[in-house]
Amino acid sequence: MIDKELLNKAIEAKKNAYAPYSKYPVGAALLTKSGKVYTGCNIENVAYGLSNCAERTAVFKAVSEGESEFVAIAIAGNGPGFSFPCGACRQVLLEFAPKIKVIIGDEKGNYIKKELADLLPYPFEKESLKT
Ligand code: THU
Repeated sequence: MIDKELLNKAIEAKKNAYAPYSKYPVGAALLTKSGKVYTGCNIENVAYGLSNCAERTAVFKAVSEGESEFVAIAIAGNGPGFSFPCGACRQVLLEFAPKIKVIIGDEKGNYIKKELADLLPYPFEKESLKT
């Protein structure tokens, strides 16, 4: 799947965002090694801290269905500018896919592509627990 196709699926997923508090809808599309795509959106709650980001919705959907090998994720917010993943989502992506490519869209449909390793340098990772 080409990057732009994955981004378009993220843009589509953004339509389901439940973001009445921030009014900042986000969509994500996660490509698995097997070629499947899991989408996600942000889902907020009146108790703000219970809100979930689009990227983590997509990851949790995939893992809960037995898919945990990921090659790319596209993210689409409403701008202005590129919708970079938050720190929590970077950490959750690292758990399953340290080498994942991250396609980061802006409100105009432009995107940039980054390695997770560049977005999350010096990570707290599985190896950190080995004594
Ligand atoms: N949000 C995401 O869905 N993904 C991110 O990586 C950054 C933030 C959501 C959370 C919240 O619903 C809204 O954007 C504003 O922070």
